[in-house]
Amino acid sequence: MIIVIDGPAGSGKSSTAKAIANRLGIKFLDSGALYRAITYLWLKSGKPDKAEFFENLSNIQLEADFKDQTFYVQAGGEDLTDKIRTKYVADQVSEIASYKIARSFVNSFMRDLVKKDTYIADGRDLGTAVFSDADLKFYMDASLKERAKRRFLEMKNSDSSVTLKDVMKNLRSRDEKDQNRDNDPLKRADDAIIIDTTGKSFEEQVSEMISIINEKLNLN
Ligand code: C5P
Repeated sequence: MIIVIDGPAGSGKSSTAKAIANRLGIKFLDSGALYRAITYLWLKSGKPDKAEFFENLSNIQLEADFKDQTFYVQAGGEDLTDKIRTKYVADQVSEIASYKIARSFVNSFMRDLVKKDTYIADGRDLGTAVFSDADLKFYMDASLKERAKRRFLEMKNSDSSVTLKDVMKNLRSRDEKDQNRDNDPLKRADDAIIIDTTGKSFEEQVSEMISIINEKLNLN
């Protein structure tokens, strides 16, 4: 069984999905972390030619798992979980994610992963492209200002040089790229339930979504 949450950067998808996974005893899949992992590896290899780099993606031995309330990402045995949260990676990820070959790689990785358990996954195109037959779809949104504030608080732990202005600029540019790319742009699925989190507390949005899940699905 798969529940998906799509929406723009910083709308609260990942933290909400994680909290729901923990409370319902299901697994969390952070699709953005997989795009970030590829971006990190591309940057680490010295920004090689993208076509060549993407062709060899199957050699990177990507692994992901949700345990101890954390979505872990590894490549070739290197733990990337924290390394993918920097501004350096955030500034490049939407560019990397706009390539069809990168998207196909991440999509098939995710489809394989969810075969084994019940998942709640968050991303941009999950309800429209990757899991168009998902059991339940949400679309989360919030104003740009609120999203930037939240993302800033999250990022400053791993990257003390980051400013709120940087984060706002990065979100605006990522929204623009994610919504306008040719390959699977960010878009609300027609059958997705909209959750606007502007002005809502974290607890309110989590409870609201858990009520909907309990009403629509039988998870036991
Ligand atoms: O969710 P997060 O902000 O970590 O995602 C990082 C980037 O990965 C997004 O800005 C977007 O460009 C890309 N992404 C995507 N499709 C997804 C998830 C993330 O294109 N399903």
